[in-house]
Parts: sequence; structure tokens; C-alpha cells
Amino acid sequence: MRTSSGHPVVAAVLDLVMWPLESVRRRVPPLATGKVLEIGVGTGLNAGLYDPSRVLQLVGIEPDPHMLKRAQPRFDAAGYPVELVQVGAEDMPFEDAAFDTVVVTFTLCTIPKVEAAVKEMHRVLAPGGSLHFAEHTRSDSRAMAAVQDALNPVWGLFSGGCNLNRDAVGLLRDGGFDVEEVHGHGRSALSLTPIHRGRAVKK
Ligand SMILES: C[S@@+](CC[C@H](N)C(=O)[O-])C[C@H]1O[C@@H](n2cnc3c(N)ncnc32)[C@H](O)[C@@H]1O
Repeated sequence: MRTSSGHPVVAAVLDLVMWPLESVRRRVPPLATGKVLEIGVGTGLNAGLYDPSRVLQLVGIEPDPHMLKRAQPRFDAAGYPVELVQVGAEDMPFEDAAFDTVVVTFTLCTIPKVEAAVKEMHRVLAPGGSLHFAEHTRSDSRAMAAVQDALNPVWGLFSGGCNLNRDAVGLLRDGGFDVEEVHGHGRSALSLTPIHRGRAVKK
């Protein structure tokens, strides 16, 4: 299912916009092992962060061809077997339990039918497998969450469809995952984009 044709300008500025998230991002891909699925690879900023000695194969999905064009050379240089597939996460062409690890960074905010996508992530992950995530999320502060709700429609227009106000951990739980680890980054009560990083498992 191709959910988005994207825009070359959004792909061109993504690396710049994502730069402040680099220190959190760096903690996620090294945890991946075995057959790995990365959801919404974007321009491939995670490609060089995986440990080639732990990754048997990586399949990266991304619906936006402009993102994929930028991601491909980064994955080509990464040193482990890679297949990039132009498809959305809501309906993935993979067998049940096909992957040992799922990785998703800063993407649950953007997927249009995110509940369906999380169910798909759960379906394609092997029992006992882990989903490693880093996502900006709905604020714990009611006042800041109200600000996120108010700004969300405008924010989405300028950020390629990103939603400010999604509860990333809640979405994973509702999709059937057991969230076993959550770390907060940033001053959550004051931040418009507090970040949750962690690990969810399929029991
Ligand atoms: C903010 S970018 C993050 C990219 C990358 N994960 C990273 O950490 O740099 C969000 C990504 O989600 C992708 N996306 C949008 N709709 C999607 C969908 N239905 N399934 C998977 N990815 C999607 C966008 O094209 C974009 O590449």
C-alpha cells in the first residue's frame, strides 16, 4: 500500500530537522539483532548506526520515493544485507512472525493509519521479538497536551504530516505489545516534543 508520494523538498530538509534528535536516535539501532525491519526509514539516518555483526538482514520500508532515493546510498554503505521496499506500514507484504526485531524512530507521529500500522508491526514480529523505538509523544502535562492539540493541524502542514499529540507508548500497548522499557528525554512538562525511547515485546 503506497500511502504517500511525498515531496522532494520535505526529503531534502529532513536531515536538518532531525539533527537535534541525533543523541536519542543513536541509542536505538545498535540494539537490533537478527532479521530486522525498520519502519519509515526516511533518508536513512539510522543506516550507519546498526551493528553489522548483529544484523543478519535489514528490510526497510518507506512509502515516499524521494526519501528512499536519499536512503539507498546510506544503506548501500552500511555493511549488512539490505532490502528497501516502497510501501506503507499499514499493510506490509511480509509473512507473520518474519522478523526478530522491529525498529521505529520518529515515525509513529507521521503514519496516517497508525493503529493499523502498529498491528502490522506486531503481526510481522516473531513471538519473543523486540520493537525498539524512539518517538516524540503526547505531553504528560495536561496544559502542554492542550497546546499540542491546538497546534497540531498547523504543525502537520509544515512537517510532512507529523502529529504532535500522539501517545506513542499507548499506541504500542493498544496494538498488542508489552512495553517493557520507557525512558523519557527532554523536560517533558515544558517541551512541545517530549521523547519516549524504549523497548516493546511481543509475548
Ligand atoms: C520524521 S520522518 C522520520 C524518518 C526516519 N524514521 C528517521 O528516524 O529519520 C517520518 C517518516 O515516516 C514516513 N511515513 C509516512 N507515512 C508512512 C507510512 N504509512 N508507513 C511508514 N512510514 C511512513 C515518512 O515518509 C517519513 O520518512
